[in-house]
Amino acid sequence: MFPLPPYPPPETVQDALRGLPLSAWLYYPRTDSTNARALAWAEAGAPDGCLVLADAQTHGRGRLGRRWYTPPGAALAFTWVLRPLPAEVPFLARWPVWGALSVALALERLGLRPRLKWPNDVLLYGRKVAGVLAETLWQGEAPQAVALGIGVNVAPEAAPPDAQVDFPAGSVAAALGRPVERWPLLRAILRIMLAWRARVPTPALVAAWAQRLAYRGQQVRVALPQGETVAGVVLGLTPQGALRLRTAEGERTIRDAVAHLRPEK
Ligand code: BTN
Repeated sequence: MFPLPPYPPPETVQDALRGLPLSAWLYYPRTDSTNARALAWAEAGAPDGCLVLADAQTHGRGRLGRRWYTPPGAALAFTWVLRPLPAEVPFLARWPVWGALSVALALERLGLRPRLKWPNDVLLYGRKVAGVLAETLWQGEAPQAVALGIGVNVAPEAAPPDAQVDFPAGSVAAALGRPVERWPLLRAILRIMLAWRARVPTPALVAAWAQRLAYRGQQVRVALPQGETVAGVVLGLTPQGALRLRTAEGERTIRDAVAHLRPEK
């Protein structure tokens, strides 16, 4: 399905973005995927700091090739076009964490206690309420641009039923027990992201991530992309952000961010 062309967005969206140092932004009432739009925009030369937003996505992309559900009026779906500076390139793997941490910090301002399921899912009361997907545009070995996409389930309608997902989804409103306005939440997340970008390469990012790590002291299973599954107790993060597990064979460090993690039932 073709995306609808951008049209004048609701005033609430304009208000949410007013005064933020964005290079440019596009709002779609409905599109296939804001990541797809952002990558296309990056290929067409969009500079660093452009933002693509959508009310609804028809082909929202999740990690590991999964679909991401974004019905109208219920979620935040947005993607940054970012052009990494040379000094940022060695830390690109942290960018999804930067997104997830920023969502978590914004949710804390609403009085919630989010946890980050390693590497970068945002949980509230054990349910996933936000996910981040980074897709990179390469020129040879060099990253030209990163589409850093963030989806937040704000209203309960945004959370797919348990039978349709392999990790239970929730929403910010359900966790808070009241409706939540989407666009002020977007503004808070964007402001936090802008403030934290320079801290991504520093120990402060890993410390803030580790502080909010889900399942600390609990038994989990991590499925690695090679097909191996590792079971162990979550000990924390290394200074680089790898997951530390205490397994039956001793301590094990999981670096591969494609791995996915489940608590033991
Ligand atoms: C995940 O699987 O946890 C990552 C989900 C990322 C979803 C967001 S919604 C905005 C952006 N556009 C997409 O198509 N995906 C990301």
